[in-house]
Order: sequence, then C-alpha cells, then structure tokens
Amino acid sequence: MFLFCTDTTDTDIHALIQTRRSIRKYKQEEISLVILKQICDDARFTPSPGNLQPWEFLIIHGRESTNNVFDHLEWLGGAPENGKTPVAYVVLLMSKKYSDEWSCLAGLGACGQNILLSAWSYGIGSCWIGSINNQKTLKKILKIPERLNIFSIIALGYPAEKPIVEESADSIRPYRDASGKMHIPKKPLEDILHINHYESKE
Ligand SMILES: Cc1cc2nc3c(=O)[nH]c(=O)nc-3n(C[C@H](O)[C@H](O)[C@H](O)COP(=O)(O)O)c2cc1C
Repeated sequence: MFLFCTDTTDTDIHALIQTRRSIRKYKQEEISLVILKQICDDARFTPSPGNLQPWEFLIIHGRESTNNVFDHLEWLGGAPENGKTPVAYVVLLMSKKYSDEWSCLAGLGACGQNILLSAWSYGIGSCWIGSINNQKTLKKILKIPERLNIFSIIALGYPAEKPIVEESADSIRPYRDASGKMHIPKKPLEDILHINHYESKE
C-alpha cells in the first residue's frame, strides 16, 4: 500500500494540502476499516464554533452498501465507470438544529477538508460530493435519524487516475481532455493575494 506519509512526525503538511486532488476513478482495492475509522477519528478534532462539534460520521464499505450510495451522487465530468467506483464513503452528518448557522456550516466544511487530508495521508483518493440526489430516500436506506441531515458525502478509494493541476487566470472550469485526463485550473496566488490593503488586480 502506498502511504503518502509514513510517519506523522515527518509529514509535509504543505505537500499534503497541495497534492490532494479530487479523484473520480478508483482501484477496486478495499480500504481497511481500521483506516476508515482513523480518518473519522482525525476529523473529530476539527475546530467548531463554541466546540459544538455538530457532526457525526457514517462509514459505508462493502460492495452492497456502497452501491446503495453511488446511485445518489452527481459527479463533475461524469460518474466513474464500472470497475472504477468508490470502495467506501464517509457520510458527513450534521445536526439539523444547526443547519441555519453559518458558523456551524463552516465547521462542517473544515471537518470535510480534514477527512480529505487524512485520507490522502494514507494515499487514499477522495471526492467531496455535495450534490446528492433524493436525500430523503438515501436517509431512509441508511437509517439516518430525522434529527440529522446529510451535509456531504466523501467518496474514497485508492486513486486510479492522476488529475493535472494547472495555473490559470482565465478559466477555472475543471475539464477532461481527449485522453480522459482531468485538469484542475487553480487561480494564481498573485491574483488573489493582498497585503496590508486591498489592491485591485483589474
Ligand atoms: C462543498 C463541495 C462540494 C462538492 N461537490 C461535488 C460534487 O457534487 N461532485 C463532484 O464531482 N465534485 C464535487 N466537489 C469537488 C470539486 O469539484 C473539486 O474540489 C474542484 O473541482 C477542485 O478540484 P480539486 O479538489 O482536485 O482541487 C465538491 C467540492 C466541495 C468543496
């Protein structure tokens, strides 16, 4: 198994953040439940307003269970083909009573990013899925109680693709090229960074 980092003491956090890409094609190698639980354990340490910790995690693994989730997800650039689908998911659940609080939503966002980074530290690719079809049915299938909402679903699996990140001031639209490779344009730092006072870049 490829580990992005073998030892937390020499983790290069900058490389971990910058090399993580959304992965939408996965090897069909299972992820151990120990690692899936470790990823959720890491996410538990995310900061939250007033330390409310407005999240819960639902791990989905095993072919039958993952099939139930796959049908409800929308994929940018097209869904993974047969044989390249996610082998696990973390369903990020949010307490309904906080769903209108922007600060709790921000906390859930941070929690999601920690899941992505923790996964990548094991060499596990991920894709954050916010577009979920028919939440109601999915909640029923997964037996999620009424008091919780699905905030997002994180698809997981060892990568079977390597998206290309590129700097682009013009188009920020991710795209697949003729060979099917995913390209992810990122805005250049100088276009979005201001020091001491806002400087118009136009
Ligand atoms: C809140 C949020 C929701 C997202 N929802 C989806 C989604 O529904 N489907 C999908 O394929 N990607 C989704 N993504 C992944 C983005 O498309 C991806 O992060 C973006 O294209 C940049 O690529 P990168 O993650 O490789 O940097 C989502 C990301 C975030 C943060």
